[in-house]
Amino acid sequence: MVERPNKPSSLVATPGLPPQPTVSFSDDNSLVTATLPTGESITVLLYGATVISWKDSSSSEKFWLSSAAKLDGTKPVRGGIPLIFPVFGPPPPDHAQTSSLPQHGFARTSRWEFLGKSTSESSGNQQTGDLSVKLDFGLSSAANGLDPKAKEAWPYKFNLIYSVTLNRKDLTTSLVVTNDDERPFDCQVLMHTYLKVNDITKVSISGLDNSSYIDKVDAASTKTQSGEIQIEGETDRVYTADGPVTVAEGGKTLYTVTRDNLSNVVVWNPWIEKAKGMGDFEPKDGYKEMLCVEPGSVGGWQTLEKGDAFEGAQTISLGV
Ligand code: BG6
Repeated sequence: MVERPNKPSSLVATPGLPPQPTVSFSDDNSLVTATLPTGESITVLLYGATVISWKDSSSSEKFWLSSAAKLDGTKPVRGGIPLIFPVFGPPPPDHAQTSSLPQHGFARTSRWEFLGKSTSESSGNQQTGDLSVKLDFGLSSAANGLDPKAKEAWPYKFNLIYSVTLNRKDLTTSLVVTNDDERPFDCQVLMHTYLKVNDITKVSISGLDNSSYIDKVDAASTKTQSGEIQIEGETDRVYTADGPVTVAEGGKTLYTVTRDNLSNVVVWNPWIEKAKGMGDFEPKDGYKEMLCVEPGSVGGWQTLEKGDAFEGAQTISLGV
């Protein structure tokens, strides 16, 4: 062994640089977790690029995830944020382009690729490492992970980039859809967020007053919202509205959802009977602890010509 009297000692950290966000993978590479130096974290399942967990710095979970949710790629995830593309709900039989697709399309049943992470400084407290981390995921018509049902039923060339950005007090998810085909295609986009609440009977949703909505539990009739929304039974409504949507419980604001280029918001709670009928919805009284507030563009179709792109995003802020 060569003696080196002036051997350099290892560098533990670069002095002056705050700690950085970390990104790690599960052993089977199915999950990506990003953690901020201050403790907030997100976990994304590559199947569906489904965000399945968002925790604040005290490890308090913000998303509802069914205890019977399948995370093995055999079924869309019941919880977190399943991503809906290119059709919302059961495909309309009179829309030839999507009519052979499964309910809510194939983005949530395809395995996405992790494209990488980037970090940036949010508003400046250098000492506590007040940083954000962005994870990018991709899915294209050429991807190995594309749900095999999609190729036949929706034979267009497309590219999707989904970005999930974690800040200390908010989470942004943003989708860019690009048409790489020679032909135009129609699509819909929706972020099916399952927010966690403590007691649905104490929840009120504001920001949708005077907005028109389609009431899916009342023969898809069109109605106008009056005042705040309370959940008192099965609720399945497609609102068309601008502006932030706020979810409060017992008068305290839990979440504020803002949207970019997504003109619809679905408000969904299955309540007792519907929850019983879903095999992957557990516990059965879990409907008391969840509320879906789902920003999307689902009122009509986004028609993308060759080379066109569509981008939509949501930001969920804690409190505010
Ligand atoms: C909501 C729809 O977005 O998703 C509901 O408005 C639907 O009608 C719900 O029941 C859940 O859908 P799925 O396919 O995940 O069971």
